[in-house]
Amino acid sequence: MTDILDHAAKFIKIGNVVAFPTETVYGLGADASNERACQKIFKIKKRPNINPLIVHVGSMSQAKTIGEFNTDALKLSDVFWPGPLSIVVPLKRGANIAKSVLAGLTTVALRIPSHNIALELIRNSGTPIAAPSANPSGYISATALKHVKEHFSDEKDVFILAYRKEQYIQIEVQTPLHELNSIDYQCQYGIESTIIDSTANNLAILRDGFITKEALEKVVGKTIEQTSRWMQIKAPGMMNRHYSPKVQIRLNVKSLESNELGLNFANSELKSNLSFNLSLMGDLIEAASNLYTKLRILDNYAKLNRLTIAVAPIPEVGIGVAINDRLKRAAIK
Ligand code: TXA
Ligand code: MG
Repeated sequence: MTDILDHAAKFIKIGNVVAFPTETVYGLGADASNERACQKIFKIKKRPNINPLIVHVGSMSQAKTIGEFNTDALKLSDVFWPGPLSIVVPLKRGANIAKSVLAGLTTVALRIPSHNIALELIRNSGTPIAAPSANPSGYISATALKHVKEHFSDEKDVFILAYRKEQYIQIEVQTPLHELNSIDYQCQYGIESTIIDSTANNLAILRDGFITKEALEKVVGKTIEQTSRWMQIKAPGMMNRHYSPKVQIRLNVKSLESNELGLNFANSELKSNLSFNLSLMGDLIEAASNLYTKLRILDNYAKLNRLTIAVAPIPEVGIGVAINDRLKRAAIK
């Protein structure tokens, strides 16, 4: 084990917070069994305590010490873990999970991430790691090291774990942003995990993500409800304005107003002083991985120049469903 990884794992074990990359977005992690450590996450993120955390584990056997898996949950974990799927299961009696992680629920969201740094950190810490996305509550999730640093570099207690040239490194608070370019790790998928609830009579998707409803249905061989967008759902934090830039954002835009910056997809032509295309080729997977980075740049520029953001239509298919879900929440006033 490298010194830095060892150090990060120790940091977790003694009840501190470590920011680390996953294949979806960066996480802000703490020992899921340590109440004081988990409370630090809520404080640093300014996260409402009614919003539970996902518990990240390193193996199926570790997952089974925390949650009860029915046949569907087992099928799904078998196919999609490690990977970008969080499965909500009933909390196992006697499971050693901090109260604040559960936010009063009797269920727990579990996930085995596939990113090596995340996995090694969990396995070396020897404890499950509770980790929300590494951004201030309600803001756009962090998909690159520089996003994490921007948010938390004043937090002396946050250890930022990264990887360069086959070595683990710790990002120091003083590291200038331009130096991060050589090591910056852009999260592969760039959008949070799909969350599926296995605890009710019918399986339900609580949050859309890279793993689509169709892919999940194929594995379990039955219809899955999609509760995330329209209905009251189990996780209170999920219906609020979320993933939101500081400036206003308008969706499904065909032509720009004078005070708007354009975020394009495929052949749309929202042209402004600063504008981006999420994927010129119209590739939704590429678009998802670019979404938060481009939104953040537009947001900073728009804020400085008193502008707003306008987004071209994104097709509601495949991972486009998750992209549109995030955009709709971002646009709630
Ligand atoms: O991809 C991801 O899931 C990332 C990376 C770091 O793993 N994590 C992430 O965490 O997006 P967070 O906290 O930003 O979003 C977790 C969502 C919240 O909306 C929370 O309400 C929901 O998961 N959640 C957690 N436990 C739950 C439970 N027992 N039942 C229903 N929803 C739950
Ligand atoms: Mg989040």
